[in-house]
Amino acid sequence: MDLLWEIVQDKYNSRENRKYETLFTLANGYKGLRGALEFSKLGERGNFIAGIFDKNTAQVTEIVNCQDILGFNLYIEEELVDLDICEILNFTRKLNMKEGILSFQFEIKTPKGKIIKVASERFVSRNNVHRWAAKYLITPINFNGKILIENIIDGTITNNTLDPINTTKHFNVEELIDLKPGIALITSTIDKKIKIMEGTSLIGLNEEGNFLKERKFNKFGEKVRELYQIFAVKDNEYTIYKLGATYTSRDINCSIKEAFEKELKDFIYDGYEKEKDAHIKIWEKIWTNIDIKIKGDDLAQQGIRFNLFHLSSSAYEGDDKISIAAKGLHGEGYKGHVFWDTETFMLPFFIYTSPETAKALLMYRYNTLEGARKNAMLNGFKGAQFPWESADEGVEVTPKWGIDYLGNPVRIWTGDEEFHINSDITFAIWEYYRATNDEDFLKNYGLEIFLDTAKFWQSRVEYNKLKDRYEINNVIGPDEFHEHVNNNVYTNYLAKWSIKKSLELVEWIKNKDMSFFNNICIKLGLNNEDFKIWQDIQEKMYIPKSKDGRIIEQFEGYFDLKYIKITEYDENGMPVWPKDVELDKLGETQLIKQPDVIMLMLMLREEFDEDVRRENYKYYEERTMHKSSLSPSMYSIMGLSVGDSNNAYRYFIKAIMTDLNDNQGNTELGIHAANTGGAWQSVVFGFGGLSVDKDQRLNFNPWIPKQWNELSFNINWRKNIIKVTIKEDEVLFEASEPVEILVYNKCCKLEKDKVLSVKR
Ligand code: BGC
Repeated sequence: MDLLWEIVQDKYNSRENRKYETLFTLANGYKGLRGALEFSKLGERGNFIAGIFDKNTAQVTEIVNCQDILGFNLYIEEELVDLDICEILNFTRKLNMKEGILSFQFEIKTPKGKIIKVASERFVSRNNVHRWAAKYLITPINFNGKILIENIIDGTITNNTLDPINTTKHFNVEELIDLKPGIALITSTIDKKIKIMEGTSLIGLNEEGNFLKERKFNKFGEKVRELYQIFAVKDNEYTIYKLGATYTSRDINCSIKEAFEKELKDFIYDGYEKEKDAHIKIWEKIWTNIDIKIKGDDLAQQGIRFNLFHLSSSAYEGDDKISIAAKGLHGEGYKGHVFWDTETFMLPFFIYTSPETAKALLMYRYNTLEGARKNAMLNGFKGAQFPWESADEGVEVTPKWGIDYLGNPVRIWTGDEEFHINSDITFAIWEYYRATNDEDFLKNYGLEIFLDTAKFWQSRVEYNKLKDRYEINNVIGPDEFHEHVNNNVYTNYLAKWSIKKSLELVEWIKNKDMSFFNNICIKLGLNNEDFKIWQDIQEKMYIPKSKDGRIIEQFEGYFDLKYIKITEYDENGMPVWPKDVELDKLGETQLIKQPDVIMLMLMLREEFDEDVRRENYKYYEERTMHKSSLSPSMYSIMGLSVGDSNNAYRYFIKAIMTDLNDNQGNTELGIHAANTGGAWQSVVFGFGGLSVDKDQRLNFNPWIPKQWNELSFNINWRKNIIKVTIKEDEVLFEASEPVEILVYNKCCKLEKDKVLSVKR
């Protein structure tokens, strides 16, 4: 296998189990299975199904950690094969990103001296999201004798197991089933009674055919198991397939038992290898669309693929009522909640590589509009207020309490004050529309979100009579170190942008379909009075600036805060807290957690000239602590757009290594999904220099670092697949349809399927 497609763990250390469980999670957007080792009890297993949330006694609604389906034990005589008890003679684990297969191989010696070799592989099917499977090859090395093979489904699983105060069980076990052979367990969530059926069956094959003959079935409380006994012969290899199926009452209206039983039966009939081949073929297709090739820099190549692999694994275009959580389907971190991370950081990847998935992700917001309306109403506003943290309904689920950097309990204000999420969503809708021309989506879904969030802003802004301007006070911008601030530029600017765009869309729909316009006005309670007010608000929205008008003040009063110099960096190049900073008083300093003004300038690049962007980049970069993984990739893009190429490469490496190096120190809680999208943006918008100009033309300003010989990727622009290859002194383009683009600000015409070379 090509190393550039692999992530390898060559040493076992139980203390790293949880980190590797995240790195080696396999997911298909419908389901995520943490990369836990069957042969260790240490770690935090996770089986997550997108859209299955529950609150029960937890602080807030959270993604349910469902019954554990990985249970697979081997006993040699009565000795359990356990990596934490036995002597490990050799061990390797590999994630094959090209094929979506996780494998391991080890040899261990039991306390009584029996040596056994076990090799295994596992996949969560991208061909059929209801299927997953594992294969085990077992070889006794120094003995003939009895081996017990135990297949278990464990319904005792809880969420927050390692946080005893918050440990919660989110389901009741309803049924333990003997499939004769095979086992299944049905659970039902506490609040909404969503039924989840998980089942697995073992198939043991060698030259004699089926060798799993002696079977025993048991129910142990909330666990169900089947046990096989074999008499193994030294040096003979025994192959066992474990085939699994999943169905929930979210998926279908009819009996999940029937659907499940049919699925597992068909799967057994098809066999492991057939499903695996189909799964690999789907990955092959996916990679054709999403792969980024970087020649000359193995670290960058492997790292970017790692990020693309997990990002693609986290989405499922077949369900438009789910989105991608901040930690993917890879862990319980952030409780499986959806943030602006999806729209602002991940969505561009889907827009430009798989627009259908992008649409499904945006539909999740449309389908949770009722929740957003409820939020606005409960907070005394009108229209729709999307939640800062979202689960299955769109109501606000941000916890009210958390732990600060000193480990003390702290009130979390983001759910009350981080209003910019509304415009992040409308901005994403616009970005999707611009790249796809999907008028049907804009008219039937996007428009309603624009108008109802504009209605929210109308009720949220405050008119300052004295200064004849509109203000938005008491907010949190993207930089969460500063709470309860007034007139955060990011928030105000994008609210203004969104209201302005809503007014343009009103004109657009009036021209297109007057009765549709009338209907939507009736539905949302809008009329010309409102549109007049919107016009006034967008004209008079207050945007703070510096005295000379160049550095934009992040919020009113930011310039007066204490300047603290960042001087030290850790082994991953991340800033270390300066000595004189008080961690519970960050709000009194100019230190920022992540880009805020710079984020705005990246999103609305054409509204800020290059010098202004450069000065603001320089100013804010030296104040940024990068305490969010969302940060480094964005600085790499802005750096490149203003000529700071040295730092761009450094930031890019930080972004792609966020989880591989665990440089935020919390990879064990799940993948940094927004960062995976940021990594893609860093390549395509940063090094590829792609932006869309005012006339909606693609504009490429590529530059590649000296470490790279060549960078290539594909983008989907209005169904036109454009292949881009960037070399040191030339850029090659090939499009599936004719299109006019700009390269280094010069107009170029691409002809269908013809390669065009542009010299630097
Ligand atoms: C960041 C937010 C982000 C959230 C989830 C926070 O630490 O400040 O911008 O949305 O994490 O990833």
